[in-house]
Parts: sequence; C-alpha cells; structure tokens
Amino acid sequence: MQEAGSKEVTEAQIAVHWKEEEFVNPPTKFIAQANMADPSIFERFKEENFPECYREYADMLSWDSYWHTTLDTSNPPFWRWFVGGKLNASYNCVDRHLAKYRNKAAIIWVPEPENEADEVITYQELYARVNEFALVLKEFAGLKKGSRITFHLPMIPSLPISMLSAARLGIIHNEVFGGFSAKACAERMEDSKSYVLVTCDGYYRNGQLIDKKADADITVEEAKKLGINVEKVLVWRRYPGRYLSKSEMVEGRDYFIDYLMKKFRGKRVPPLSMDAEDPLFLMYTSGSTGRPKGCQHRTGGYLAYVAGTSKYVQDIHPEDVYWCFADIGWITGHSYIVYGPLAVAATTVMYEGVPMFPDAGRPWRIAERLGVNIFHTAPTTLRMLRKSGPMEPGKYGYHFKCMTTVGEPIEPEVWKWYYNIVGKGEAAITDTWWQTENGGFLCSTVPALLPMKPGSAGPGMPGIYPVIYDEEGKEVKAGLGKAGNICIRNPWPGMMQTIWGDHERFVRQYYSKYCKDVASKDWHAWPYFAGDGAVQASDGYYRILGRVDDVIKVAGHRLGTKELENAALTTEAISEAAAIALVDELRGHVPVIYASVKPSYTPSREIELEVIANIAKELGPIAKPKAVYLVPDLPKTRSGKIMRRVLASISNSEDYGDLTTLANPDIVETIRKMVQGDKGPTKK
Ligand code: WT7
Repeated sequence: MQEAGSKEVTEAQIAVHWKEEEFVNPPTKFIAQANMADPSIFERFKEENFPECYREYADMLSWDSYWHTTLDTSNPPFWRWFVGGKLNASYNCVDRHLAKYRNKAAIIWVPEPENEADEVITYQELYARVNEFALVLKEFAGLKKGSRITFHLPMIPSLPISMLSAARLGIIHNEVFGGFSAKACAERMEDSKSYVLVTCDGYYRNGQLIDKKADADITVEEAKKLGINVEKVLVWRRYPGRYLSKSEMVEGRDYFIDYLMKKFRGKRVPPLSMDAEDPLFLMYTSGSTGRPKGCQHRTGGYLAYVAGTSKYVQDIHPEDVYWCFADIGWITGHSYIVYGPLAVAATTVMYEGVPMFPDAGRPWRIAERLGVNIFHTAPTTLRMLRKSGPMEPGKYGYHFKCMTTVGEPIEPEVWKWYYNIVGKGEAAITDTWWQTENGGFLCSTVPALLPMKPGSAGPGMPGIYPVIYDEEGKEVKAGLGKAGNICIRNPWPGMMQTIWGDHERFVRQYYSKYCKDVASKDWHAWPYFAGDGAVQASDGYYRILGRVDDVIKVAGHRLGTKELENAALTTEAISEAAAIALVDELRGHVPVIYASVKPSYTPSREIELEVIANIAKELGPIAKPKAVYLVPDLPKTRSGKIMRRVLASISNSEDYGDLTTLANPDIVETIRKMVQGDKGPTKK
C-alpha cells in the first residue's frame, strides 16, 4: 500500500473555481533597498545552470574546506550536496560575526509578562553562552558528534542557545514543540534513541505560569515504558537561581543548567568541523501513518538554503530587526528564527507568549518598541489578530518593509488586511509555501522582482522547478483551472536527507508515487511528491489548496488522522475511531472525532470527554478535538475502509456525493441527523 494519495476523491479530480486576484506591486521604497533587485537571478538559477547555481547560496557561508561536488546523485533519491565540504553551523551563526558585530543584538527576547524587561543577547554574549553550554553537553553529559539530544523547550532564549551549542559539537538536536505532550516527547526520544532531555522549569503562556519540569517527569516515565532510560534531565531556569516548578529535582538525574554552567564560565570549546552531509538536527512531523517521522536535515545544504532564502526572500540585512512570530518547535522557527537569520547576522526577535496577551495590540507594541522592520507569521495568527483588533496596527508607529506568511493558504481577505493594515501599504509580502521536510521556501515571490498576488504562493523559488501531476502522473498544465498534486522536479540543498532510521519509508512517502525509473541515477526521474493539492494560473503562480493525504493542519500544525485515531482508541470504551478536519474560522481546521463504542458500553458524555482528555494526553493540547460523536457505526466501503471523506462532508455541511461504494449507506443519514439535526439532506 502506498502511504500517500490514498484518498477516494483526489484533489486532482476537483476542478477549482476561484477568482484570480490582481497583481500587487511591491512598494518602490522596498525595491530601492532590496538585497536582490537584479533579475538575472532567474537566469542564474534556471534549469540549465542547475545544480551549480546553488554555489551562490553556499558561498554565503564560511567553509573550513571547500566542496568538490555540488550535487552527487549516485544513490537516488538520497541526494548529497556540497560533497567534501566542511563547516560548522554554530560557527557560521555566531563566531564568524564577532569581528564585525560583537556588540550587536543577535537575539532580543520578549517575555510574555509585559512588565518584564526584554533580554538582549549580543553576538558576543551568545558566543559565551553557546560555548559554556556546549561544554556542559560535552564534559558533563558526555555527548559527542552524532549523539542525539532532545529538547522540550518553549520560546525562551535557552532554546536557540541549546541548538547552537549542540550544533557546535555535531550533536544532533531534536526539539519537540512545546504544545506536544510529554508522551509525544518520549516517543520522539525513543525513535531517535536519545538519552538526554533538556527542558526548563516554567514559562508564561496566556498569563499563566506553565510548569514544564512536571512534563519532563512524565516524559522520563513514558520513555522508560518504551525502553529508553533517560539518563539526564537538564533544566534551564527561566530566572537563574530561582526554581518555578513544583516538581522535585531527582538526584543523580536532574540538574540545573545555570549551576552546571558556572564551572565552565569563560571557557571555550572550538566548533567541530562537520561534513556538509553530517546531520544537523531532526524535526518530527506527522504523516499519513501513525508514527511521526524524524525529518533528518543536513548541515551544509540546509544552512546554505536557509541563508540564501533569508537574504533574498525575507530581505534580511544585518542591520534589520527581524521578527518571526512563530514557534522554534516548528521548522519555521528552526530555519527562520534561528539558523537563517543568524547565518546572515540579523537581529532576531523571539517572543515567549501568545498573540493576544494581554490584548490584540501586543504584537504591534513589540514591533514599535523594538523597531522591527521585517515581520513573519502564520495565517492563523493573522486571522486571530484581525478578528480581535482589526484596527490595532494603526495605533502603533512601527514600519515594516517586508512581511512573510507561512503554514497554510492565506485567504485573500486576510492577505489584504495584512497588506493594508498591518503593513500600512508600505511592505512587500511573501507568501512562502514549504514543509518540514524541505528546510526552506519552495514557492514564493522574490519580493523586489515579482509582483504579489493575494492568496497565491507565487512561482517556484529560483532553483526550484515545480510541476503539477494528476493521479496518473500526467502533467496538469498551467491556466487550465484544474488542480493536481504539486511536486518538485529537482533536488535542492534544503531538502531533508532521509527519515531518521527509515530510508525505505522516505522513498515510499516522497518518491515512489511519481518515480519514472527506479533504476535511474538521473534526478529527472525522481520528482518529489509534496502531498499538497495545487493549481497553477496561466501566469505561473501556484495556489496551494491543502493536503491530499491524511494530514490535518490545525493552526498551522500538522496532525496525522492516524495519530488522532490511535489516541482516541486508548479510551477503553472505544472500538473504532475516525478523525476528520472541520473548517475553523481562526485555526484553519480543527479535528473532530467520530467513534463507535464497544458492545458492552453505552455512548455517554463521559466517554466523549475521556476521548478528548486522552487525545490531549497522548498528543498534546494542540490536538484536542472540537467535538466527539459516538455513532452506532462508521461509514465503510465493502472492503472495510472507513470513509472519512463522508464524515468530513457531514461536519462541514457539504454534499457528501457518491455513496454507492459504501457497505452501510444508511448509517450516513443517521450520523447526519446526529450532527446537523433534523434539517434534511445536505446540499452543496
Ligand atoms: C504543509 C506543511 C513550512 C513551514 C510550516 C509548515 C501547508 C505551508 C503554506 C502556504 C499554503 C501552506 C501545506 C504543506 N503550507 N505553507 N504558504 N500556503 N499552504 O510546515 O508543518 O510541515 O506543514 O503546510 O499543506 O504541505 P509543515
């Protein structure tokens, strides 16, 4: 069975009707100062010049030794980039900037409580802390090149410091998003065989002090059940010297990092020279099957790609104050809060809390106070801020030159608010389409060179050649108004190396579907299947329609339907469950669970609540379903496959179309009545 594209009605079959928006040109003021206003970039990165065009990005980095082969295709689809080159990511993001920018802010951290002072970390200070913590990892925790380390850290400066410290020594970091549960963290520790956990005592979120160390205790317990003995729990304290958690420190296992670092104060450890192909980090993400996959990113290609795209798409110069309002526990934060901006010597802003705390003006106060001039966020945050404080931006005297959006399709209405109200009509917008797997942007406009189009991610990036295929692998041409599966025809340096520990799944998930010849060592035979539906307008711009596989995007985060279903099934009373995506005004989509109970149980509110609680426990609060319906039976095909599509149509009040393949068509009307009440069959 192929993992991808197994849905009954594919995006490729759906004709797409939507109004093409007009082009919007970037302000001339932006163009005048842009990093890239030279249209020859398209010439330089055109297909004839591939793969050597990518030298340009790699040359932005400092290499210990230069590579001999830009792209090695000898073992498809495990492409190797900048082969023979050696470099260190931490050196490239910190040390090399000292000569020029020692006392410039590298990171400005904004705590959520508004009465707390910001923390400004200069490049020099970052250098000192990264060295000291790297020494803790090496000397105290005994980690070395190739060891894995897991972080379960929220948006505090200790997170980028931890990442850069690990990278300094070639330790592969594995950050687990704070919104994921302790159990999810334990599973990722097990999969990556990671025995050291880095956490913190607590942090602020929506005005509440969250006890994070308490999570670590559960992680250790859950990891033990999976056969992983967590040897050390290293705890950053949000206020060094003061402990915020109620959880007790376990002797011989738990250690305060501020205490450990004292021993290494002022000490330095040289950055380890890494092969371009040595892994830099893992980032787990959801796919179609139950187990999240560890996307393994390489050192050289990844860093080159995020540096290049940070400069040319986000237009970051060293003198800019750049704020990516996203979470570092997400690939966006790895690439575009930490590695990309620091590689180009920017000042990167980090904010601890939620957008609306204490009110919808908060982000704009931060922007005004810090003089932020580049802003990057997700549609879900914009929808929230637009709803609660549509006119707030105008009250604050900040000026953006460039703004980015990522994570979901942005509705043209929201785009226009972003442009006119948030950007005050002065800023270029880049709508950047990409994925955890990809390392950096795949589609976007190059802002000083190409006009924007609301709701559209733009053309392929320079050096990225997308194509849309139908289910049979026939190309869906531009301008037909027909959707299909968007693929990337060529390799690029930011693409992950493999799925940690599962090369076969890597091939099956991303390449089997459209591979033209498995024996071929020519990259042309191996298009990358992204798992998104898309339509290409006659001008070449792509509009991304969303996932075609069993992945739900909740507030920009990826959740697998199988993961949700497995979590629901941990409820004793549940015999079968199906997870579907309900359209949500603010979060894009939210999960809804349909389930049936075992014969010895009667459906009840208690069971529903138990399902919700179990999902939160297994996966984390981000995954909580909006509703749980305990139904007499689930709609199934004759071969026993649950028809999630039908359930999704019921929840979203859409026409559920053809039911002839169902073994139990009558159940559909019963379920519809339960969900929608007695108002007659759904019409389109
Ligand atoms: C999925 C990947 C890459 C950083 C954050 C998400 C959707 C992402 C866009 C966009 C429309 C988008 C896709 C993609 N997506 N950016 N600009 N327009 N859809 O990473 O969690 O791996 O999710 O997010 O469906 O497949 P991710």
